[in-house]
Amino acid sequence: MCGIIGYIGKREAFPVIIKGLQMLEYRGYDSAGVALVADKMKVFKKKGKVAELLKVADNEDTKGTIGIGHTRWATHGAPDDKNAHPHLSESGKLAIIHNGIIENYVVLKQALIKEGHTFKSDTDTEVLIHLIETIKEKDNLSLLEAVRSALTQVIGAYAIVVMDEKDTDTLIVARRGSPLVLGIGEQEFFIASDASPIVEYTKSVVYLEDNQIAIVRRDGTYDVSSIAGVPYTPFVEKLTMEAEMLEKGGYEHYMQKEIFEQSHTIADALRGHILPDRSIHLRGLEEIAEQMKIARRIIIVACGTSWISGLVGEYLIESLARMPVEVEYASEFRYRKPILNKHDIVIAISQSGETADTLAALQLAKEFGAVTYGICNVVGSSIARMTDSGSYIHVGPEIGVASTKAFTGQVVVLSLLALLLAKERETLNESEYNKLVDSLENIGDSVDKVLKEENKIKEIANILKDKENALFLGRGILFPVALEGALKLKEISYIHAEGYPAAEMKHGPIALVEKDFPVIAVATNESLIEKVISNVQEVKARGALTIGLVREGQEDMKNIFDHIIEIPNVPDEWMPILSVLPLQLLAYHTAILRGADVDKPRNLAKSVTVE
Ligand code: AGP
Repeated sequence: MCGIIGYIGKREAFPVIIKGLQMLEYRGYDSAGVALVADKMKVFKKKGKVAELLKVADNEDTKGTIGIGHTRWATHGAPDDKNAHPHLSESGKLAIIHNGIIENYVVLKQALIKEGHTFKSDTDTEVLIHLIETIKEKDNLSLLEAVRSALTQVIGAYAIVVMDEKDTDTLIVARRGSPLVLGIGEQEFFIASDASPIVEYTKSVVYLEDNQIAIVRRDGTYDVSSIAGVPYTPFVEKLTMEAEMLEKGGYEHYMQKEIFEQSHTIADALRGHILPDRSIHLRGLEEIAEQMKIARRIIIVACGTSWISGLVGEYLIESLARMPVEVEYASEFRYRKPILNKHDIVIAISQSGETADTLAALQLAKEFGAVTYGICNVVGSSIARMTDSGSYIHVGPEIGVASTKAFTGQVVVLSLLALLLAKERETLNESEYNKLVDSLENIGDSVDKVLKEENKIKEIANILKDKENALFLGRGILFPVALEGALKLKEISYIHAEGYPAAEMKHGPIALVEKDFPVIAVATNESLIEKVISNVQEVKARGALTIGLVREGQEDMKNIFDHIIEIPNVPDEWMPILSVLPLQLLAYHTAILRGADVDKPRNLAKSVTVE
């Protein structure tokens, strides 16, 4: 989950690379570096964010129309200057940047050390560039063929760009398991981990496929082939996103922007899926319609917030369509020898479409012959391309590390899926079905109403900011929302927060509760509300500070909770979409008040493309 960027063409490379790294920092920001060639190789690298790298390069000669850059999330080797990419070969004439993991690097390194190689870093990446140079020299190969040969010896995942001081008219790129996009300009190429740094220069892109290698040339030509050497004519896609979509749009942070974008992204995710006759059209489902009809069950594999949206999907699909659903942590599913076959539908949910564990779980499902369906946000991402079919959530680029608009986009698609299956399986009568469809279709106004509560949420954040622990409670379909509220708070404010089914308090967590201990209850269910309230009474009796998300108009709630946030009335089924919004804002403002880096929280990265 690092960010890589390369440029070759008529522009000065340094500004293109730096701007690209700043846009890719959400993928990792332990250290950053740039290599450029004007007449000779120049490398600048530094621990910390791109801003630190800029200080280092400030007084340096950064001329050159070819270069590569990297922003790192450390895997092998501590996040420090020496382990920052780019890395150089033994001679210092070849440079590489790499996103991924070389799993057999120790063996390769030992062999190279025996041949007299010396290494400056602890990274697996440095081993790879030494191997490439060794092969190039020993076998008298072109750089392209040397990279090809070296990659046949590599076990692991990679997206790499290799540059040669002695040949400033080409760059070599290759990928397996980590994303790489080629931006094709007028006699210039932009290479990046995703399209966001490319879109302002060109909309013509090629998504390199796994086990592919390419050479791009200053004259504007390029060739793609498999690592095995079979030529490949790639499809040049046209990007639809606009550069300004990637800016902050007047908000202080991407996360805040993306929270407020939900006032239209939820509507966007719904758009075109509810037809005038009230039937649901979900892109990609018709391709697996027959298999869905005879399917034994649905298995959802995902990580983090995407796993939580899968839990909401489980409640919805089982309650509305009466179809068995199991939600699995992808990282567990891939190793626990699950039992599945062609009668299973495996749905992979992933905002980035590049999460390594989810990719691996999907690969396993395909090996068992299961039918696979993807719910992704990044168009052309690996998961989107691997599944038999799928639906994009179309919420636009999500830059903030904490997932917000992607979560509600995923829940909307899962809601549509549940309704579509319920209609097909006739598990709802017409009036129940129409009531649910109408209320989902019109949820946009309620979204805006909740987002307008920001000032009240800021007041609550001002209390929460001094706490070190918090409990989030919910029941039924709101239990996953409690989990999501806890995840948001912990990952950006660093307050230890846990989400629990409200009834579970008595089985242990209530021991934590003492005076002023913050308990946030997602009490917006219509069903089970009395039980949620009695759970709240239990913690209140022990002195807890109680914060309640409650349905609009429930005046008595003011006597139960110390603070309440009112949520417009919609059916329980759609309450997760509305109830998560104040929790996103609560986490955001608490983190701000605690001085945390909201868009780039410590130790995290936006896309976990390594195990
Ligand atoms: C969410 O706020 C986290 N940043 C993280 O849990 C994320 O949801 C998880 O890594 C999965 O990412 P994906 O949706 O891109 O697969």
